[in-house]
Amino acid sequence: MKVIIANNSLEASKMVSDLIKEEIKNKNDSVIGLATGSTPIKVYSNLIENYKNGEIDFSETITFNLDEYIDLEKENKNSYYSFMNKNLFDHINIDKNNTYIPNGNSKDLEKECKDYDRKIDEKGGIDLQLLGIGRNGHIAFNEPGSDFELKTRIVDLSYETIKDNSRNFENIDDMPKKAITMGIASIMKAKKIILLALGESKKDALEKLICGEVDKNLPASILQKHSNVYIIADKEAGGNLTCLD
Ligand code: F6R
Repeated sequence: MKVIIANNSLEASKMVSDLIKEEIKNKNDSVIGLATGSTPIKVYSNLIENYKNGEIDFSETITFNLDEYIDLEKENKNSYYSFMNKNLFDHINIDKNNTYIPNGNSKDLEKECKDYDRKIDEKGGIDLQLLGIGRNGHIAFNEPGSDFELKTRIVDLSYETIKDNSRNFENIDDMPKKAITMGIASIMKAKKIILLALGESKKDALEKLICGEVDKNLPASILQKHSNVYIIADKEAGGNLTCLD
């Protein structure tokens, strides 16, 4: 794992957007795995700026998002479909037919999950996967205890995740309690992985990911086993990692 601790969140986000920019410049039809949440917002606004400056052409790029809530209308402002349009897709020249997000309203959710993994394979697999990390060490919505071998599937969100993500909903009862998530096995197949961790609240999870054992109670720790991973953090999240002294 290459661990990079940037001075602040802006610098960390710029490192990540630059790596994505390079990936797409080298291979126009790259398959990029995308995350939602607060962490990648600045990365996406940098990419929009890169596009507007003529530095990136997204016309051939293919994207797969990590996850989506179940039973939340696509048009709801908290769906990951809305998030991606608002924070990235509406502002760049990507063909929206090439942007894949699990459909949490599918009548056949099991089939939706299987089809999602199949579609990723059909497109040649993910070249670069962007990840955030939950305070409890989850990646995508693979909560603590998730088996590393699992693929895309339906999951119950943990109490901690529901509490964290309900900040965007008017009240906690409006927040979906289930989601479709890419599994850890699906994520680990990506050729390159970049995990971005920002802020003090991610400090403990990051310490365990980088300095601890591989343990399914800290799902992100599996990244230690991947051969091409960047962990990029700001000082608040990664400033005092005991094993890097
Ligand atoms: C989002 C996702 C999650 C988030 C994680 C951190 O698609 O898969 O694993 O990356 O919950 O969320 P934020 O960035 O809001 O702290």
